[in-house]
Amino acid sequence: MNSSATQKLAIQKIETSKIGQVDFSNLTFGSTFSDHMFECDYKDGAWQNPTIRPYGPLTISPAAKVFHYGQAVFEGMKAYKDDNGKVWLFRPEENFKRINKSSTRMAIPEFPKDIFFEALTTLVKMDREWVKPGLGNSLYIRPFVMATQVGVSASPSTEYKFMILMSPAQAYYTGDVKVVIAEHYSRSANGGVGAAKAAGNYGAQFFPTNLAREKGFQQVIWTDASKHEYLEEAGTMNVFFRVNDTLLTAPISDRILDGVTRKSVIALAKRDNVAVEERPVLVSEIVEAAKNGSLKEIFGAGTAAVISPVSAFSYKETVYDLEKQEDGYAARFKKELMDIQYNRGEDPFGWRYEVL
Ligand SMILES: Cc1ncc(COP(=O)(O)O)c(C=O)c1O
Repeated sequence: MNSSATQKLAIQKIETSKIGQVDFSNLTFGSTFSDHMFECDYKDGAWQNPTIRPYGPLTISPAAKVFHYGQAVFEGMKAYKDDNGKVWLFRPEENFKRINKSSTRMAIPEFPKDIFFEALTTLVKMDREWVKPGLGNSLYIRPFVMATQVGVSASPSTEYKFMILMSPAQAYYTGDVKVVIAEHYSRSANGGVGAAKAAGNYGAQFFPTNLAREKGFQQVIWTDASKHEYLEEAGTMNVFFRVNDTLLTAPISDRILDGVTRKSVIALAKRDNVAVEERPVLVSEIVEAAKNGSLKEIFGAGTAAVISPVSAFSYKETVYDLEKQEDGYAARFKKELMDIQYNRGEDPFGWRYEVL
């Protein structure tokens, strides 16, 4: 399945950059795109014609399988600029491995590593002016794959398009994040696609998340689909609970996305001698900890916002408020991670990847 592309990376440069038209101090996340994008097609059993070209629309048949069966996966990663103008990625190998893992689960052929990294680094180099300096600014990178074979028969596509888009992003302040613990809806099931970044996983969350929003909550913390007894993850974040001084987080399973931020927080916690337990976390133990005062923090971990502290959660119509922790674990791990991402400190684990 993992056939290599047969040609060299072709490059078509934009004539005039759009960058002058962009207000970088007023960006809406994910809605402005850089000058170039990457695309590569899978046909006749091989990835072919890897090309970087000006960002722009696609012509695609309305009968393409992606529109009918949702055979599509994606990734989310970022490029960061340090104070000397150097551009870095953070653990890009993890995103590469994960997109292929997601693809395999969705019966999509794997993408070759050499082309992924050549395309990614060439694209970032070409659009480096779109990575703005300053802590919190970044270039969000969206690799994705979709089924392009024409035909509405329910079977795996024989043709695909792999693309990479890039979108400048400002510091992402989530504000006060209030969450609802899921009691009825679920995100994923045993043996399902929860561990894949499959497009449909996200579309399926919109309706229950809207219901939570109507009640003044921003996110849902999903629980296991069978009994809603165990806490799993939130929209695009893994979730950590600090009970006394111990961090708890759900173990990776086929229901949960293996987050890069999650595994980085766990590594930093272990290095810092913070007790961390990856184990099933009962809703009842967190409710009990909230009642007896031992629940100190809840935070989400994910590429978009790095770490998002949760200020309250709702369960069975009762709202539990969490005291704001100025020097809590959320603030500490956010700083430690960003210091690595923005080349402001040591990189003891070798997570930084220099682009230029
Ligand atoms: C469902 C889900 N959980 C967790 C995460 C966090 O993963 P990462 O830290 O790799 O961004 C994401 C974002 O990719 C996600 O979509």
